[in-house]
Amino acid sequence: MNISAKYSNLKHWKTECTAVFLPKNYDQPTWLSELQEIFGNTIDKLVKSKEFGCEEEASVLLFGNAKTNSKRIVLVGLGEIKNFEWDTLRKAAAKAIKTVQLAGIEKCAFAFPGFLVKENFAEERVAQCLVEGAMLASYYYEHYQTDKTAKKTAVEELTLVTESSPRDAVHDGIETARIVCEAVNFARDLGNAPGNELPPRELADRAASMCRRHKIKCSIFNETKIKSLKMNGILAVAQGSSEPPRLIVMEYRPAKAKNHRPIVLVGKGLTFDSGGISIKPAADMDRMKFDMCGGAAVIGIMQAVADLKLPVYLVGIVPSSENLTGSKAYKPGDVLTMYSGKTVEILNTDAEGRLILADALAYAQKYKPETIIDYATLTGHVVIALGMHGAGMMGTDEGMKQRLMMASQFTSEKIWELPLWKEYDRQIKSHIADIKNVGGRPAGAITAAAFLKHFVGDYPWVHLDIAGTANTEEETAYTGKISATGFGIRLTVEALQRLVTNND
Ligand code: BES
Ligand code: ZN
Ligand code: ZN
Repeated sequence: MNISAKYSNLKHWKTECTAVFLPKNYDQPTWLSELQEIFGNTIDKLVKSKEFGCEEEASVLLFGNAKTNSKRIVLVGLGEIKNFEWDTLRKAAAKAIKTVQLAGIEKCAFAFPGFLVKENFAEERVAQCLVEGAMLASYYYEHYQTDKTAKKTAVEELTLVTESSPRDAVHDGIETARIVCEAVNFARDLGNAPGNELPPRELADRAASMCRRHKIKCSIFNETKIKSLKMNGILAVAQGSSEPPRLIVMEYRPAKAKNHRPIVLVGKGLTFDSGGISIKPAADMDRMKFDMCGGAAVIGIMQAVADLKLPVYLVGIVPSSENLTGSKAYKPGDVLTMYSGKTVEILNTDAEGRLILADALAYAQKYKPETIIDYATLTGHVVIALGMHGAGMMGTDEGMKQRLMMASQFTSEKIWELPLWKEYDRQIKSHIADIKNVGGRPAGAITAAAFLKHFVGDYPWVHLDIAGTANTEEETAYTGKISATGFGIRLTVEALQRLVTNND
């Protein structure tokens, strides 16, 4: 999508469709008087009507007339300004772009809601949220649709029309959103790719080619290398599959980095999780192609941070295996000696994410990191706790947890902290090895984190269990049905931006 900002007005701006964003019960929102000039008292009726009424998520499509160069004008409600959140704007932009897509239009405009700036909402953020909503909502995974008529129209051009010459803040907001959403949509493509298309080899290849494009250093460890390093967690999980595992290591170290020791991001990259010998039920097992969404988030964050040229030394590590049931598959009762040297008794082969993460987290220590953040579709328990609305956050880095929490208020990728009390440690004690890979039903999301804690040493660390948020079931404002969301990318980029500008 080609996005720009231009100074014009509703009468002169020539386009197929212009969206105007209107708040409820508000005196003089931007563009209202122009709308009144074009449409007369129809506008006043609509603004007060039950059908539209400027409610949040309401919209109405009008056809233009001789008084405007817009062939169509879509009014999108923002609700009461006192209830306004940044996500209100993303959702409104999403609504506008979907209307445009439905009409089969390739070029459109958003009339910039300048009144928000007067209400003290930062202009750059207004532009950013509009573009985020548009870019995220216009994403559909249609790679395997051979019927062209079934495909959604790709909106190719979006112009933010401003009341006066657009300031730098507007251009900056557009640029940030474009970079971040390209990364999110790239991660969504990785997540949505079916398991047969994207085994660990392919995930690694796509990460490597992204790194080449964005000048990020990248090393891919193949099975031989992983064996020589004795990363037995990654190996054991991959053993039941003919697809060899990979470990993807990406390093972005700009000359002006503000941190000397890197922030290391680790993402679970299970390209398919059947559960292994402790096999999962058939219903919805297809969703387990999304079990690499933590890895995809890390790959996406690397791309966005490099593209934004953030002055932050960042390392991304993605262990990737496929968990199947072949004759060599690892089994309940097996004991593994992990890369760190710790021993793990396997009681359930479906608790495999923590095994591949354990080796990657232990490997992360080689960088003497400032902090480690991991992203993993780790447990069904976190879905029981928080549903599909938020990710579970646990860990020891208080500063980073707080920063992520603040970032999440802007990005609306919700996170909620669960405790990591030492009392939980008992649940994963093993009678035969150092620890076991399951801790029973109580607090399953937490005992999974307690397991990971064994592999981060004394380094500050945050764990995000994204099992409920990595993919959708139903279509939402700006994510499609049964689709990867790219959760964690906007959140982390925002947190890192705050870190480097000391804006937290
Ligand atoms: N990939 C799953 C977790 C998951 C479940 C993600 C549902 C998304 C939706 C993970 O590998 C798993 O199977 N975890 C088990 C752990 C259990 C055996 C301790 C679970 O949550 O049931
Ligand atoms: Zn599993
Ligand atoms: Zn899994």
